[in-house]
Amino acid sequence: MFDTMTLTKVTASLCGALLFFLVGGWAADALYSPKTGGHGEEMAQAYSIDTGEAEAEEVVEEGPDFVTVFASADAAAGEKVFGKCKACHKLDGSNGTGPHLNGIVNKAKHSSEGFSYSDAAMAVVGQVWTPENLNAFLTNPKAYLPGTKMSFAGLPDVEDRANLIAYLATTN
Ligand code: HEC
Repeated sequence: MFDTMTLTKVTASLCGALLFFLVGGWAADALYSPKTGGHGEEMAQAYSIDTGEAEAEEVVEEGPDFVTVFASADAAAGEKVFGKCKACHKLDGSNGTGPHLNGIVNKAKHSSEGFSYSDAAMAVVGQVWTPENLNAFLTNPKAYLPGTKMSFAGLPDVEDRANLIAYLATTN
């Protein structure tokens, strides 16, 4: 059985400990928070804005940009990549599931005669398939041209795209 004195002592020491942490917390706040009265979270945000290193790493992960890769693209390697397009695209001037792609580089968009393009495609006639435009389209056709009827997921590898576009540029 506890006697009253023991109970009082225990309670007192607990209160003392609580008080210690409470005061300690205030002291820490006063020491480490900015004088402007901001909270700890604001400080953390200030630090996260200042991480130039992490951003630099992300850029490295994306690899070289298309223009750089395209400058030294390999058309022969691109001919192999075209194997992924052959099911729908021909290079003999005739249309299949997709329009023929002879001379497509720097050709007016969606101008293959006799091919029935989607409404989405017909909405952007008058532009030209520059290597950069083709690069953007082939990265993700449905993102570049929402509503396109080209059922192709895209080529994620920038070298594949550059080589393929270099190969297409050799056709006419
Ligand atoms: C499953 C069939 C299919 C595959 C595979 C496919 N395409 Fe297409 N492609 C189409 C269709 C259909 C269109 C017409 C799009 C429209 O009308 O919206 C098209 C349109 C295009 C156009 C626009 C042509 C123009 O006349 O303006 C280009 C360029 C193109 N495709 C390139 C490619 C390349 C390069 C590949 C391979 C990496 C590829 N496609 C794979 C079906 C396909």
